[in-house]
Amino acid sequence: MAKQIAILTGGGDCPGLNAVIRAVARRSLDRGYKVVGVREGWRGLVDGRFEELGPREISGLLPRGGTILGTSRTNPYKSEGGVERVLENFARQGLDALVAVGGEDTLGVAARLFDEEGFRVVGVPKTIDNDLSATDYTFGFDTAVWTATEAIDRLHTTAESHNRVMVVEVMGRHTGWIAVMSGIAGGADVILIPEQPMTVEDCCEEIRRRHSRGKDFSIVVVSEGYELTYASGERRTVAQDPSVGDEFGHVRLGGVGDALAREIEARTGYETRVTVLGHVQRGGSPTPRDRVLATRYGLKAADLVHERQFGMMAALRGDDVIGVPLRDAVAELKTVPPHWYEVARAFFG
Ligand code: F6P
Repeated sequence: MAKQIAILTGGGDCPGLNAVIRAVARRSLDRGYKVVGVREGWRGLVDGRFEELGPREISGLLPRGGTILGTSRTNPYKSEGGVERVLENFARQGLDALVAVGGEDTLGVAARLFDEEGFRVVGVPKTIDNDLSATDYTFGFDTAVWTATEAIDRLHTTAESHNRVMVVEVMGRHTGWIAVMSGIAGGADVILIPEQPMTVEDCCEEIRRRHSRGKDFSIVVVSEGYELTYASGERRTVAQDPSVGDEFGHVRLGGVGDALAREIEARTGYETRVTVLGHVQRGGSPTPRDRVLATRYGLKAADLVHERQFGMMAALRGDDVIGVPLRDAVAELKTVPPHWYEVARAFFG
């Protein structure tokens, strides 16, 4: 009987997930495996919901955003008997291995299942946030940066027409990768990220300095995870409802752009508007770079399964896609290094 491999996509969706599904399935089908998709992340393994992925199902997937398998933020370790049901359904379905495509949460579950249960799993690093260690880049990030950069370009022209300060809030959770990269690419005048908590006072000073040089509009990019920081030492996280977290303990961030815009207008007197890019950054078709990266990751994941290198993840190092231990990828968040922020800072004010 043919060996059977399953694919699961978990956590927030991002462009390129379908390209990974296509690549894993294509290579595995070519090798004679049967391939199935798990519905809606870990929830589908807890509930035992699978669907066959044959040549017809994976056709036309490369440019398609989202995930044909659906996704969720389900954590099997948070529900009574969740892990046991994952193991049971894996065995009942006759699976040989699972390819888990996800970020720190989804892959954290995969790493723990491998460590504690010997679960046959390999990982693929996905997230627009680019905050996973052990890989240079996650797929989905390039598309999010492209979308944010295009938005900043558009905001430039209207900011200039109206002599306004435009605050752009981008995603990224507790790291500022999207803010720094799109801010550099879009020519932002100030960029605020969690890793480098510039104060509100300094941010306003940069804008004043720019205006004193004859530029009467400014673009400020702020990462959703930036804490409003004041010269007094006060720091404040802005979240939609700080009391509500998901099954991995994350609060839903959002709103810092609005709070910052109010501060800038009150302190500088410059008319200020805010744009929150939100889930637009996660939608749509992947960039060519993300399509290629997702495809290479998918092929590598299929190879890791075939070579029975479980507990590993496909990762980009330089120009090579290699296998690294899943554990290394989820050990700590990959934050923006100071030298990247210095590139951005050279253009502040
Ligand atoms: O991790 C990806 C991400 O888009 C973060 O940047 C953001 O904070 C979060 O997911 C939003 O999650 P949700 O889709 O549950 O609102």
